[in-house]
Amino acid sequence: NYYAILMAGGVGSRFWPVSTTSFPKQFHDMLGTGDTLIQKTFSRLSKLIPEENIFILTNERYNDLVLEQLPQITQRQVVLEPAMRNTAPCILYASLKIQKENPDAVMIVAPSDHWIEDENAFVQNVATAFEACEDSKKLMTLGISPTFPNTGYGYIEYDQGSKDAIKKVLQFTEKPNYENAKKFLAQGNYLWNAGIFIWSVHAIVAAFENFQPALFQLFEKGISVFNTDFEDDFIKENYPKAEDISIDYAILELSSEVFVLPATFDWNDLGTWGSLYDKLEKDDAQNAVVNSKLLSQDAVGNMVRTKKDKVVVIDGLIDYIVVDKEDVLLIYPKAKEQDIKKVLKRVKDTF
Ligand code: GDD
Ligand code: MG
Repeated sequence: NYYAILMAGGVGSRFWPVSTTSFPKQFHDMLGTGDTLIQKTFSRLSKLIPEENIFILTNERYNDLVLEQLPQITQRQVVLEPAMRNTAPCILYASLKIQKENPDAVMIVAPSDHWIEDENAFVQNVATAFEACEDSKKLMTLGISPTFPNTGYGYIEYDQGSKDAIKKVLQFTEKPNYENAKKFLAQGNYLWNAGIFIWSVHAIVAAFENFQPALFQLFEKGISVFNTDFEDDFIKENYPKAEDISIDYAILELSSEVFVLPATFDWNDLGTWGSLYDKLEKDDAQNAVVNSKLLSQDAVGNMVRTKKDKVVVIDGLIDYIVVDKEDVLLIYPKAKEQDIKKVLKRVKDTF
């Protein structure tokens, strides 16, 4: 009864110029290991879940990329969205489809673009969470020990009193402001939300019915046509009407059935060039290199990526991102990596 849905609809614009709208980061070999991020995620999940029960949720424009990179799956497993409406609508849509196929399904919802080093620990944690969700209303999250007041994450306040591995969540706060993030860190009983969720299909559908009745009714009208030839027409017409809202705001901040399992694996959501740099091996001068042949002098702390075996020579460069793609060369300070989104917009407006 184990299922997975992999979310692969994001664009990853802070990884420009490698990640683009037509070819986003989850379909790239960001780590230089030979596998793309979605391939790595799929193989991690298939250690626990039958391959035919792993569904990929993505925008319809990425259908071919998904089938090309995951030849072991069939079209049935690719759930296509005609519009980008963030994570809540696509999770509800896929959950209702899976529920129609197997009402007893217990599932994991996972991003397709994260870095997780210790796969065995990951598999163990997910197995523990799966067990807790059988015949239960629990909405399980995986929690990561926070290291700094990052305002891009969800914060999970948990009950420290319980000795169980799985803790009751007192309050889930999505993307707090900096002041609150600092307070949470100082208080101690907070974890970052890894963005990986485990629940029974019954529990998540009931939560949508309860907390997002409009969204629920929009899709419920179509359940009778799900998994038939009429599904596409229904989705084309109705999906774009869904509210643009993430699962964190739509369900996790509102439900009192949220639980957390503190994760025992190292995790990184690979959001920026700097986070990738942190996870890669470095040379003696702390430069991280993907694909390139680097010749450097007095160059320290740089993140360098080109096409395979391209020779890069740098001298005196410190803490920069150097990324080369056919038509774009980006040389940008690591400290300003959050601005790459804005740079991309300027580039689009200019050329
Ligand atoms: N299929 C599909 N459709 N996938 C989507 C869509 C969509 O419309 N929008 C986003 N995704 C995918 C992204 O590709 C990513 O893998 C995942 O859903 C999460 O979306 P993000 O946009 O990256 O979310 P976030 O980083 O702002 O916040 C979430 O992740 C954090 C951890 O990385 C939240 O869950 C936070 O609470 C969490 O801390
Ligand atoms: Mg993210």
